[in-house]
Amino acid sequence: MLYEVYLRSFADSDGDGVGDLTGLRQHLPALAELGVDALWITPFYPSPMADHGYDVADHRDVDPLFGGLADLDALLADAAEAGLAVLVDLVPNHSSSVHPAFQAALAAPPGGPERELYIFRDGRGPDGSEPPNNWMSVFGGPAWTRVPDGQWYLHLFDTGQPDWNWDHPAVRADHEATLRFWLDRGVDGFRIDVSHGLVKDGELRDNPPGPVLDDSGFREEGEPRVWDQDGVHEIYRTWRAITDEYTARDGRPRVLIGETWVRDPARLARYVRPDELHLTFSFSLLTAPWSASAWRTVIDTERMALAAVGAPATWVLANHDVVRPVTRYGGGEVGVRRARAALLTLLALPGVAVLYQGDELALPQADVPPAARQDPAFARSGGTLPGRDGARVPLPWSGDAPPYGFTADGVDPWLPQPPGWAGLAVLAQAGDPMSTWRLLRGALALRRALPHLHGDELHWRDDAPAGCLAFDRTDADGRTAGAAPPERATPGAPTSVGPARMTCVMSVGQEATINLAGRLVLASGPVGYDGATLTLPPDTTAWIAPRDG
Ligand code: NOJ
Repeated sequence: MLYEVYLRSFADSDGDGVGDLTGLRQHLPALAELGVDALWITPFYPSPMADHGYDVADHRDVDPLFGGLADLDALLADAAEAGLAVLVDLVPNHSSSVHPAFQAALAAPPGGPERELYIFRDGRGPDGSEPPNNWMSVFGGPAWTRVPDGQWYLHLFDTGQPDWNWDHPAVRADHEATLRFWLDRGVDGFRIDVSHGLVKDGELRDNPPGPVLDDSGFREEGEPRVWDQDGVHEIYRTWRAITDEYTARDGRPRVLIGETWVRDPARLARYVRPDELHLTFSFSLLTAPWSASAWRTVIDTERMALAAVGAPATWVLANHDVVRPVTRYGGGEVGVRRARAALLTLLALPGVAVLYQGDELALPQADVPPAARQDPAFARSGGTLPGRDGARVPLPWSGDAPPYGFTADGVDPWLPQPPGWAGLAVLAQAGDPMSTWRLLRGALALRRALPHLHGDELHWRDDAPAGCLAFDRTDADGRTAGAAPPERATPGAPTSVGPARMTCVMSVGQEATINLAGRLVLASGPVGYDGATLTLPPDTTAWIAPRDG
């Protein structure tokens, strides 16, 4: 399981109210105990923080806010010791506007070679006072900003995030050097930011008129000149050759995982062809409504498309850009019940599962008062977009009141934490057998121990009642399987041998009853089961293993 660490909000070691690398290092044992296999750490590079680190001023250093290179080295060493792989965030679509290359571009005259590293153009209209085309920033407003000499530069995100020109060989060479820099320091791979956006339409043609944003994050249908251009794949082939080179040296896997907001599964699959990225998030599950048939359709279409290129699916329900599942699925008790059920189902699917920090605590989206909001999307859209701050509130670790152990007592975290989160804190949940943290720890231990969950097979059960998702998992051979391989076995976790089937059943929105012989190994809430008939209250998932397995 890959765990997203939103570094600013994970744990603060130096009392400035912002999470940092040492804070993360201090809490690695908690992640290992939860059952995490790998971490993805959001950007920690020098940055003016116009987009909280996704505006990078130097791709090969650490911002003092988060520590230094020595702290990163120490983190990598401890993570390796704890058996945790570490992926870092590569932000190749844009730099910060304070990046030396962009500053040089600004200082250069129009047409100067320094400007060619970015996307500068003359404007339209008689005096060039209109933007070069009709592209919009993802954060609202035009995607172009005019500079004093009259030219415009492109930024698909904030004005402080100018887009690189990926047609320029120097841009390619610089990013390859960045990959090597972090691989040489020992990282296990990269999450690639905006992986579907680096290459734009060659002539920068207008997008069709009309609204572009359904708030799902998929924009390529409304903005076909911007996203998912064919030229991007050549870049990933180059990067794959680099990671393969490192893996060939020592046998340790290095992984490239794309943040690819492309809705069409066949187009998405192109990013994970055998010589491109290893993985790409399947955001279709994240955006699917709370419906058994919608989930089944997404699971089938994503799996089929990805299998055609030999790649596993990477299931994700949350990240730092979207409303937290508890709130998305209805909020309150219903939301918590659904989020727990959804996670247990996610962890029963073949492929890679991703958790966003706080999922293991069933945190709701926090209500951040407008005056405290920091996301540029909120300000740039004139408040039309609520911004993503509510998903980014610092984690509660312990204690009865803010800052709940996230930072030193008396220090204000960079975003305010709500009162009433004491019961959600890690320490509180670790001591509560019914907590979401304990549920996930159990699920992750079983995911390692049950051989049925290790293969690629998934068989839908025809006897699932309406409104219910039910599937069988078998081991890779579809036959009786042995115990988990020793390197994956968790001390103290159940070890299992036995027949190959394990069944995951999720009731979605209504009660479900299904005849199923076996043994209940885990459930997201109270269920009725007598070894033959399983009754699930609405929005509950259960894992049923063979009686003798
Ligand atoms: C995706 C990141 O997850 C998001 O937080 C960021 O604002 C944009 N890419 C731009 O880098």
